[in-house]
Amino acid sequence: MKTLIRILFISLFLIVSLSYGQGITNSAHDFSNKGWNSAGEICQPCHTPHDAIDEPNAPLWNHTLAAATGYTPYSGYDMDASVNQPDGSSKLCLSCHDGTVALDSFGGASGSTNIGGNFIVGRDLSHEHPISFIYNTALATDDGELHDPSAISSGIGTTIDADMLEGGKMQCSSCHDVHDKLGNSHLLVKINDGSALCLTCHNK
Ligand code: HEC
Ligand code: HEC
Ligand code: HEC
Ligand code: HEC
Repeated sequence: MKTLIRILFISLFLIVSLSYGQGITNSAHDFSNKGWNSAGEICQPCHTPHDAIDEPNAPLWNHTLAAATGYTPYSGYDMDASVNQPDGSSKLCLSCHDGTVALDSFGGASGSTNIGGNFIVGRDLSHEHPISFIYNTALATDDGELHDPSAISSGIGTTIDADMLEGGKMQCSSCHDVHDKLGNSHLLVKINDGSALCLTCHNK
């Protein structure tokens, strides 16, 4: 009986660890089994090899974008950076995560299934970590309690600037890897145990 229970536990552990591996397959962004994605492809809700949406610097984007303006940016407590409307790849994330465009609105179709629950970030970004602003040596000097992004290591490759910023800017992708390459919880670029992610940039 004990051996049977042990075998059951080991198989359960194996099933769980195999289904949460590294990479997009089986990650939170693998929509191949969703009813709203009838073609069952992984990349297609976001990318297409042909006839991509006309959006500058977007990687062959296939998902209908949300209205580009009208967000409420973070204003904050003692912010040195000035934060404007979301730009760069954050606009791509918000095409699903602001909750205004259906998940199945891709490839020119207009869908009807919206993102739900905690996964909605919304259009009021005043309560979310600031994004879409320049984080450089000058900001770190002004602030006094931020690491210099071009000098300090990200702990996941080279510098903060090289690994976490997009054209020198903070974006959703500074903290999240949309393709879940590392298999960290919440698609994080770095495990946040002991707030290691936060302490990468904040010198607290
Ligand atoms: C949920 C949406 C989503 C899905 C699904 C997705 N991607 Fe992406 N992909 C993005 C976003 C957003 C970016 C740009 C931001 C970034 O790279 O962080 C991107 C960037 C890319 C890039 C250019 C940058 C780089 O990392 O090389 C490639 C290539 C790419 N994706 C390939 C794929 C392939 C292949 C698949 C399917 C196996 C896929 N993606 C699935 C959202 C997605
Ligand atoms: C990739 C770098 C980076 C990471 C990772 C990061 N931050 Fe930030 N954070 C910044 C920058 C840059 C600012 C802007 C500071 C400024 O302009 O004064 C900021 C702003 C903030 C603010 C607003 C300060 C204010 O005056 O309103 C808070 C609070 C904060 N971060 C907390 C966190 C927490 C908590 C985490 C971890 C979950 C985190 N940050 C992760 C770079 C980062
Ligand atoms: C095609 C729509 C779409 C796009 C584009 C998209 N997401 Fe998502 N994302 C989703 C959905 C749907 C979920 C919820 C999945 C579920 O129900 O488990 C999700 C879940 C997440 C989660 C939660 C994962 C977890 O395990 O807690 C994070 C973090 C996330 N997305 C970040 C991003 C970021 C950052 C981007 C852009 C770089 C992005 N997403 C682009 C649809 C999208
Ligand atoms: C400074 C780092 C940072 C930035 C920037 C950031 N996130 Fe997150 N996000 C996190 C962390 C850490 C978590 C894990 C859960 C938590 O601590 O709240 C998270 C959780 C999430 C979740 C899952 C919520 C849940 O309850 O499961 C989603 C969805 C998400 N983020 C989307 C986004 C999108 C979209 C953007 C850009 C608009 C973004 N994040 C920008 C750090 C960040």
